[in-house]
Amino acid sequence: MSFQSSLRCLWAGAALCAGASLWAGEVEVLHYWTSGGEAKSVVELKGMMAQRGHTWRDFTVTGGGGQNAMAVLKQRVLVGNAPAAANIKGPAIQEWAELNVLTSLDAMASFERWDEVLPKVVADQMKYKGRYVAVPVNVHRVNWLWANSAVLKKAGVAALPKTYDEFFAAADKIKAAGFVAVAHGGQDWQDFTVFESVVLGVGGPAFYDKALVKLDRAALNSDEMKKSLEVFRRIKAYTDDKSLGRDWNVTTEMVINGKAGFQFMGDWAKGEFLAAGQTPGKDFTCSAAPGTDKAYTFNVDSFAMFQLKGWEAQKAQGYLAYLLMGKDFQEKFNLRKGSIPVRLGMPMDKFDECAKTSSKDFVATSASGTLVPSVAHGMALSSSQQATMRTVVSEFWNNDKLTVAETLSKLLAVSAPKQK
Ligand code: GAL
Repeated sequence: MSFQSSLRCLWAGAALCAGASLWAGEVEVLHYWTSGGEAKSVVELKGMMAQRGHTWRDFTVTGGGGQNAMAVLKQRVLVGNAPAAANIKGPAIQEWAELNVLTSLDAMASFERWDEVLPKVVADQMKYKGRYVAVPVNVHRVNWLWANSAVLKKAGVAALPKTYDEFFAAADKIKAAGFVAVAHGGQDWQDFTVFESVVLGVGGPAFYDKALVKLDRAALNSDEMKKSLEVFRRIKAYTDDKSLGRDWNVTTEMVINGKAGFQFMGDWAKGEFLAAGQTPGKDFTCSAAPGTDKAYTFNVDSFAMFQLKGWEAQKAQGYLAYLLMGKDFQEKFNLRKGSIPVRLGMPMDKFDECAKTSSKDFVATSASGTLVPSVAHGMALSSSQQATMRTVVSEFWNNDKLTVAETLSKLLAVSAPKQK
């Protein structure tokens, strides 16, 4: 056995080098991937762990966007019963690492050269004080507009809207043809998902960065932000009145089934279209949300690894981390999840046109400085700032009596110096 493969055995639970069941352990994994497309993606991962004799225990907390999952995780960690891994993203990784409950993956990361195979912006988020404590599995693009091709055709919408003027003209036609123009769910993170795409489209990526990422007071109080709120509110008139509490995937189903024309959502929605047997470019389309085709809001799913007692558990956890960064997993998982591999240099030939566009645009926007973190999906702000922003925006969406001016001043109140 070469020196390299001996070293790999150390963290890959020795299963790479010895019999599959030797030193096998159990991994308990917290996630919230329960919709049709998401569940299919998780099955890939479970299968790969099982091939090496490891047992997978689901710690599933339903609720898109993961807010419920994070609340339950806190309770578990507080009583000293952390899972092996949890789907934790963005600055929240730092918050957990500060509590000294995460394990260092640095030996594996340096041996497997994660720094070389990951985009720097992603690698930095996975590290605490320069050491890897989490493993990224994908890149989701958030600023998409999904459309049902047949609905658009019946409504006489010939082209996908590139501006908000075009969008509202198309939405009018869809509404007049008897469909719901915009499918929208009823949770604050879904409201913010639409809102951030509107801010990006109305103000552009530099403005988005200033206002929503840096929480710059002048930007938060600007005409662009005022216009963004106005456009956001205008979209509401095109949604149906049953959205309250509706999950994102049930909302996507409205587009899949031809009840609705459009949905603003990240590309986990594509996982639902695919799971329903639909084909991009034929049954449905993916296009950048109006005004955002030269920009990209990224959302990277990642697993933070918790400190564990017990050698078997640690080995199974090590193997999970190793697997997640592997080419095989990154391809199979992302083909179902709707996202693209986060690992650089992966072949994209098996992926569909939406994923190919996403991959090309990720590289292009990264070079042009128009790649921005999704605020709705926990890539930019501390958990508390994010929660406050979500509440303000959601209240505005849900209460038509709240004025733009009132909401601007509430947003300004969030702009206290960033917590580290
Ligand atoms: C996102 C997450 C995705 C998807 C979505 C709906 O925040 O990154 O993987 O699960 O929420 O739950």
